[in-house]
Amino acid sequence: MNTQTDSSRREQDYPNWAAAETGEFETDPRAVRFASNFPIRPIPSEGQVDTKPICSSPTTGFNALWKAIEPETRTRGNDVHLPISAAYAERLCDAYPAVDRELVLVTIILHDTGWAHVDESRIISEGFGGDWRKATIRFEHEREGCRVAERVLPGLGYSQEFIDRVCEIIDGHDTRPVAFSLEDALVRDADRLWRFDRAGIALSASWFDMDMATYTDRLQREIIPELITAAAVSMAREDLRRQRDLLRTEVIR
Ligand SMILES: [Fe+2]
Ligand SMILES: [Fe+2]
Repeated sequence: MNTQTDSSRREQDYPNWAAAETGEFETDPRAVRFASNFPIRPIPSEGQVDTKPICSSPTTGFNALWKAIEPETRTRGNDVHLPISAAYAERLCDAYPAVDRELVLVTIILHDTGWAHVDESRIISEGFGGDWRKATIRFEHEREGCRVAERVLPGLGYSQEFIDRVCEIIDGHDTRPVAFSLEDALVRDADRLWRFDRAGIALSASWFDMDMATYTDRLQREIIPELITAAAVSMAREDLRRQRDLLRTEVIR
């Protein structure tokens, strides 16, 4: 059997994910400032970059915050997505030690809690079909995520100024194509990196209804180029190499 032909035929069944468009945000002063502060892309790391499997460095702490959003972890695989993304975020903070670590970690923990407050039946149908980056449900989950942050963070002692910074990152984390700060960039990269862990691959490939070979090829071709930081690119490449070997995607395709 000519596996090459079968593979390319299957690939054609899936339209390319639409590329993110910079649009109106390209001229936003925050985006302009961030772009001029970090002209080299992907942004070179300053600290140590850990590319070992993510399960070797789980996060600790933030217990009260995790407990406060426990109901929101029950939707859309958030009880897998959020802790794994938080572990990647922590590693990225080690690679970019100048960032506000607390801001990055609190934001990544909260960023997708809004999925628990939107119409669940539309999450897969709208959120992963067609032009999923522009789906209305994605804007809704960002707004709802900000509402969760506004609800839970004051009781945990966070100032309104801090909460506003959290919400600035959550609002647009999926739909705004450009980052406004290095903290914003690390949240975005951590939100993508979880897909390169084997649990992330298994879960998100099922959302997109893709087999492992197709999905890992898409990660290589479409997600790695979107990563903003060099540390994230190194982690993604190492993870992908490991998962492809483990899942035998060179032959199961
Ligand atoms: Fe999201
Ligand atoms: Fe996410």
